[in-house]
Amino acid sequence: MRLVWYNHPRSVFRRLRESLRAQLLAWVILTLFGAICFNLYDSFRTADAASKLVTDHTLLASARVIAEAVRVDAGGTVEVDVPPAAIEMFDTGYGDQVFYQVITAWGNLVAGYPELPLPTVERVGQDRAFRNAGVRALTLNHPVVGLPKDGEIAVTVAVTHNAQYALRRRLWFSDFTKQLVLVLLAGVVTIIGLQRGLAPVLRLRDAVRERGRDRLDPLSPSMVQSELRPLVLALNDHMERVQNQMAAQRRFVSNAAHQLRTPLALISTQASVAAREKNTERRDEALQALRNSTHQISRLASQLLTLSRAEPGSRRPRTDVVDLVAVAREVLGTQAEEALRRGIDIGLEENGSVDVEGDGTMLREMLVNLVDNAIRYTPAPGRVTVAVTRQNGTAVLRVEDNGPGIHPMEREHVLERFYRIIGTEGEGSGLGLAIVLEVATGAGGTVWLDDAKGGGLVVTVRLPARAKH
Ligand SMILES: Nc1ncnc2c1ncn2[C@@H]1O[C@H](COP(=O)(O)OP(=O)(O)OP(=O)(O)O)[C@@H](O)[C@H]1O
Ligand SMILES: [Mg+2]
Repeated sequence: MRLVWYNHPRSVFRRLRESLRAQLLAWVILTLFGAICFNLYDSFRTADAASKLVTDHTLLASARVIAEAVRVDAGGTVEVDVPPAAIEMFDTGYGDQVFYQVITAWGNLVAGYPELPLPTVERVGQDRAFRNAGVRALTLNHPVVGLPKDGEIAVTVAVTHNAQYALRRRLWFSDFTKQLVLVLLAGVVTIIGLQRGLAPVLRLRDAVRERGRDRLDPLSPSMVQSELRPLVLALNDHMERVQNQMAAQRRFVSNAAHQLRTPLALISTQASVAAREKNTERRDEALQALRNSTHQISRLASQLLTLSRAEPGSRRPRTDVVDLVAVAREVLGTQAEEALRRGIDIGLEENGSVDVEGDGTMLREMLVNLVDNAIRYTPAPGRVTVAVTRQNGTAVLRVEDNGPGIHPMEREHVLERFYRIIGTEGEGSGLGLAIVLEVATGAGGTVWLDDAKGGGLVVTVRLPARAKH
């Protein structure tokens, strides 16, 4: 069965939010769109101003031709015979209508349309409404020889907008198309640049995606630009860590299997011997050995389980408030019988509770393993002391015995998994101190092995203590 994703409108936004390429493209397109809108507006304003300027020049020229034609006859009457050129200069093929008006300074209409709207400033073209249409009008004051009083006439010429608008359209269009071509060109170049710039990132994605489950060899940093190299290096670093982790896991599993195999083989042999043995005494011996082997294997299983629980990420991190003194007292209580049986004196040194934060169960397991080692490896009559103190915000747990101790050369190794010192007597899987180390570091602490004063071993675990309330 194949899953088909339908293009839901929300997925477009999600894609935009999640995809770097889509985001960059969206920004480029948005910028281009803004640039085009601005161009549209700016080129319109330029074209409008140019077309007005051209119309105003023609209006001024026309007004001047009309003004030149104004005469004052012998009786003082002002007359004008409008030359056809003054009107014809507007004949540009757009069917514009031309209106004019000539008045004297004292307000007498000499010729033209009396109701023609007049601009407010001389020699400056202005848009006016006339006969339900828009016109562009311009007034020119002109002196006329022989006129009484102020001696000037005012000539106003107005023309409908057809030619002006046509010119504006033409200018606008040519300017806009030029700018549009430039903007689009810039856009295309940016998008191509973007695609090319992102190509190495996509190549890196494909290289990572196409790798098989077990391929963890480093990626080549030269496949991406210098800015992205730290990312590739970080990835390589991470893969190396994963690889080491996987190798450690493999070693651990094979070690565990190895450790399990020996007692299992023993159990099988001892069971066969017990089954075959007719002599009751010898059969009991074989059954006793069988029980010991079973005990050994069950201890190994429980140590393995504890270690796997102590590993980071295997349990939800817990931050119980744990009083180490109370835990130590409880652990010593449960081990008291075994200590007595082995002829070991056990004691606790403390002066008040010492709280730490961490996983209570795991911290208890840590103490169980330390006390168990001390009791087990110290020959009778021996002495084991657990001391819990607080030193400048640090909880210090010391488990001291007067046994054989551990040679300095061996101290680092005994913290490794499955490591037992050659010649160590009694059963054991070599996981106890590895559990101690894992729990202590998981709670943000350290483990230190040293010689005890009177011989023997002292294990010191330091953990960040919780402030006293
Ligand atoms: N208090 C001690 N005195 C002397 N040797 C010790 C002491 N504690 C540990 N050792 C040595 O360090 C080795 C590792 O100890 P660890 O607790 O890791 O494993 P183990 O005790 O052998 O097995 P288990 O997993 O059952 O605890 C032991 O085999 C022992 O040789
Ligand atoms: Mg142990």
